[in-house]
Amino acid sequence: MRRAPDPADLEPVAPYGGRPLPPARTRWGRWIQRRVPLDLEALRYYSNEPVPNHLKHWWWCLGGTPAMLFTVQAATGILLSFYYVPDPSQAYESIKRISDVVPFGLFLRSLHRWSSNLMIAAVVLHMMRVFFTGAYRKPRELNWMIGIGLLGVTLFFGFTGYSLVYEQLSYWGATVAGNLTQAVPFVGTYLARLLRGGEMIGDNTLTRFFILHIGILPALMTGLLGGHILLFRLHGVTEFEFESPRLRAPAEQRTFPFFPDHMLTELIIGLGLAFVLTCLAVIFPVGLAEKADPLVTPAHIKPEWYFFWTFRWLKLTGLTFAVLSIGFIGFLAFVWPFIDAAIRRRRPASELSVRIGAVAVLVLVVLTLWEALATH
Ligand code: HEM
Repeated sequence: MRRAPDPADLEPVAPYGGRPLPPARTRWGRWIQRRVPLDLEALRYYSNEPVPNHLKHWWWCLGGTPAMLFTVQAATGILLSFYYVPDPSQAYESIKRISDVVPFGLFLRSLHRWSSNLMIAAVVLHMMRVFFTGAYRKPRELNWMIGIGLLGVTLFFGFTGYSLVYEQLSYWGATVAGNLTQAVPFVGTYLARLLRGGEMIGDNTLTRFFILHIGILPALMTGLLGGHILLFRLHGVTEFEFESPRLRAPAEQRTFPFFPDHMLTELIIGLGLAFVLTCLAVIFPVGLAEKADPLVTPAHIKPEWYFFWTFRWLKLTGLTFAVLSIGFIGFLAFVWPFIDAAIRRRRPASELSVRIGAVAVLVLVVLTLWEALATH
């Protein structure tokens, strides 16, 4: 026999301080609604934003790609951390064990490494699309600045992760990074000591890199990503002048719903990524070079490819100038929307920003290729 609903359960329920919700139709629905009084209408409104038509093409949706790869990093990273030992006397051996003994260990390591490389490439491509389409302009300056924070965190993830392997090149790469940090005026000595846990790379360093890599950076990334998503949700994704005939059309024709249409595009990108990552991890599994030896400096120290340009710049200009100029370039990138606004106030039709961006990309590519091909 069906039990009659408790009259109290038919009373409208309201989220704390919010408007009363219409009671759910089923008993189970009402049971859940009492315990989780979510305003589904509001949730639908905030999660189902209209997105401009150009997002039907994958190359405009490059922002979702690093977000997906970050989830791959988190999942594979948690599994790897079950076996990794952040101690100089055991780190290398634990990675060897993951690669040779742990079931699927090499596959997980390869996924983690390949996904980190793809994530860095995707962040750079997404940043280039935002830059060259001027999508950072008013009122999206803050989201650009959060984006620069995301770029910094992504690169720091790569640096700390590579250093954890404790092979010769990662050890000596970390040594050079420590020297670069030390060359920062006024605070460099303290920063380098904080990073290394001493005057040199030593027993404390790996623990610090590990805590950064699995605790501090993921928390920072999650917080910054939350802010990034909130802001582009509140402003909407930029609609462009090349869509000008459409921009005069009513909103429903200029845009399409986030759910399910845009989610479907993202799902297809996600499946493509999963396929590419699996192929890369299986066909090109990550290797393990010789163990770090603090007493033997390798003939050619090379970092990961995304830091090639800094190494070449360092070789060309010297330690102090390299540190100051890279810091200055980082600062310019951070405040770029305001510099661009100042340029456009004086010369509204100016394409100077695009030219500056093109030169910056060219210089980065040349420095990267130069370092990649150089033998010293
Ligand atoms: C982990 C890194 C990042 C993730 C996951 C991410 C994610 C996203 C997503 C999903 C969008 C929506 C539109 C799109 O897909 O293109 C977006 C928009 C945006 N992102 Fe990012 N982003 C990241 C890094 C960056 C960086 C490095 C910058 C620039 C420095 C940046 C600046 C922006 C701006 C200004 C928008 C608004 C674009 C518009 O309105 O058309 N983001 N981001």
